[in-house]
Amino acid sequence: MGQNAKASERLNAGGAVAPHPLSSVDAAAFRNALSRLAAAVNVITTDGPAGQCGVTASAVCSVSDTPPTVLVCLNRAHRMNGFVKANGTFCINMLAADQQDIAEMFAGFGRVGMAERFIRCGAISDMDRAPIVANAIAAIDCDITGIREVGTHSVIFGTARAIKIGKDQRKAPLVYHQRHYHTVQILKSNGESA
Ligand SMILES: Cc1cc2nc3c(=O)[nH]c(=O)nc-3n(C[C@H](O)[C@H](O)[C@H](O)COP(=O)(O)O)c2cc1C
Repeated sequence: MGQNAKASERLNAGGAVAPHPLSSVDAAAFRNALSRLAAAVNVITTDGPAGQCGVTASAVCSVSDTPPTVLVCLNRAHRMNGFVKANGTFCINMLAADQQDIAEMFAGFGRVGMAERFIRCGAISDMDRAPIVANAIAAIDCDITGIREVGTHSVIFGTARAIKIGKDQRKAPLVYHQRHYHTVQILKSNGESA
């Protein structure tokens, strides 16, 4: 069987994506390269039959606008993974530049208990839906519509059920790049000549 056929077999296998037998890329070098990919920082929250949980995540991506679909990659070893799957819902809270302390707390720094994390970030709970982090730039509340297990992480697809946009449209986002927190600035307005 040719390499392309083997690759296609792997992609079409469904469920877990098999490790690539030919990849000789070192895991540390891979992580180092990916540290150069600037990414917005979010807190993913969930609530439901399994209870409340939250985690800081930058592996978040828009997938489709019809239906409105996003994905988030969650470590299979982290408790959040099981909570989200059991609840069937999650909310993406996009953090603002002045919310680094919240990002660090939901990434486990300071070892703050889960219930206390939600109190400290001023989370607003809407019935049994996932809590919304106060003053987040935007929040997208989703129902899980698909899960794909890939190595250490679950790629979790969600269709948006509700959206909340922060009041201050000029608020800059919190960004993670080369293992440090940053924010963004406009270099040149759209259409403006150099
Ligand atoms: C900036 C940043 C981005 C992160 N992105 C992700 C991610 O996309 N997916 C993930 O599973 N973990 C991600 N993590 C790691 C988790 O936040 C961390 O392992 C987890 O919260 C452990 O803390 P806890 O067990 O105290 O909750 C990220 C951490 C940081 C600091």
